[in-house]
Amino acid sequence: MTENNSINPMDRRGFMATAGSLGAGLLISSSRPAAARSRITNEIQVGLIGAGAQGQVLVDAALQIPNVRFVAVCDIWEEYNLKRMTRSLAKFKHENRPYNDYKAMLAAEKDRLDAVIVATPDFWHAEHAIECMKAGLHVYCEKEMSTNLEDARKMVRTSRETGKFLQIGHQRRSNPRYIHAYQKLIQEARLLGNITNIAGQWNRAKKDFLTMPEKYHIPQATLEKYGFRSMEQFLNWRWYKGLGGGAIVDLGSHQIDIFTWFLGTPPRSVIASGGTDYYSKATHEWYDTVLTVYEYQTRRGTVRAFYQTLTTNGFGGYFEVFMGDEGTLEISESAGKGALYRDVGNAPDWAQWVKRGYILAPKEEPKPAAGAPAVTLDVRETAPPPSYSIPVPMKKKYHQPHLENFFDSIRGKAKLNCPGEIGFETAVAVLKVNEAVDKAIKLEFSPGEFEV
Ligand SMILES: NC(=O)c1ccc[n+]([C@@H]2O[C@H](COP(=O)([O-])OP(=O)(O)OC[C@H]3O[C@@H](n4cnc5c(N)ncnc54)[C@H](O)[C@@H]3O)[C@@H](O)[C@H]2O)c1
Repeated sequence: MTENNSINPMDRRGFMATAGSLGAGLLISSSRPAAARSRITNEIQVGLIGAGAQGQVLVDAALQIPNVRFVAVCDIWEEYNLKRMTRSLAKFKHENRPYNDYKAMLAAEKDRLDAVIVATPDFWHAEHAIECMKAGLHVYCEKEMSTNLEDARKMVRTSRETGKFLQIGHQRRSNPRYIHAYQKLIQEARLLGNITNIAGQWNRAKKDFLTMPEKYHIPQATLEKYGFRSMEQFLNWRWYKGLGGGAIVDLGSHQIDIFTWFLGTPPRSVIASGGTDYYSKATHEWYDTVLTVYEYQTRRGTVRAFYQTLTTNGFGGYFEVFMGDEGTLEISESAGKGALYRDVGNAPDWAQWVKRGYILAPKEEPKPAAGAPAVTLDVRETAPPPSYSIPVPMKKKYHQPHLENFFDSIRGKAKLNCPGEIGFETAVAVLKVNEAVDKAIKLEFSPGEFEV
């Protein structure tokens, strides 16, 4: 039992804001003593559905946030992830009750819970998120919202109908480095001038299929009940059609989401080339390699964005590059990467932005050793522009600010950074890539396609 279990759950709900009424949650029910009230308003009780790799990452980040308490965990893999997560939360004094089915969890816990984090495979997101919102709970749901747009649309509609928050797990939307880059460097200081081109990638080294010793296998009947053909498919669901969306969705959607955010408009069209070039098509139903070009219509004209995802070579890792007629921004969730380059000759001096703390000045190049020959550029080369850096360190775990934004929204203190509508827009943009690969033609997005 947690200390809050003695409190009438309906009163708990009365304090939380709803998606439709930010701040309305601050209204206080009259019958509770002040001490109980502050406890209620402060502590948010959370359930986790999906205690796998990402469930663990989110729990680790959420444990850093004060007044968030996990009280229930649900996972169909009882003998492994469910046990592991319940035990690990108990070590942090989050006494929690385990469930192997979300319906049982909701039946027993819905009145105790305020919110649920959904970190199951993509094809389960819609059902989990929708049923939790219908049960009166706010939902933080991992990307991709769904493997199909109809279900993603239903998620947004349910959020609107129930007035419950639906935050989608594109966590860069709450990352202080990305917010600084967009608000201060691109919008306010206009260091890039007009954005003319974008490039991005997520290259990942070859990985073998995951396996597990027999003793941890889930019974076949349970696997089938939850939509998996076999233990192998359960462990490697990302590669299967209908279960995941393939690497372009899994990895690319985070970054393609940023393209739309920074340009202020979703794409107009997409072409793509991809295939299962390296792995076996019998196991890797989705493409292991995708190269794609989006076109965006901005006020200045067309912006083309090249994006690639490779799963057989990790060269360069993952990052996005925004190129303008005055400068370039290179940024990545990986905190070690990130720089700005001034197009010397085209851009005004950036000294004032260094002075104002928007960017850090380039480090002085080491002077050549005495007597060393001077390096001269060939006529075909250009000198690399000076590299400025982003003065915003990422001190927290990558997912923490996005979870904080979710919990702050529930408390009526913030606005969601990635509500269902934004997640939907990104799902439309990224799911179309698989179709473009299939059809091998340029696909246009119709006006209104991004609307729920
Ligand atoms: N935001 C990010 O940076 C990020 C990173 C990785 C993964 N993800 C997303 O997180 C989600 C989970 O990915 P993962 O890597 O943790 O996968 P995973 O396979 O490691 O974990 C999934 C967990 O869900 C459980 N599960 C499956 N079906 C279930 C059901 N019907 N009910 C309850 N539990 C069920 C599995 O037993 C497993 O423990 C995916 O949607 C993925 O796209 C997001």
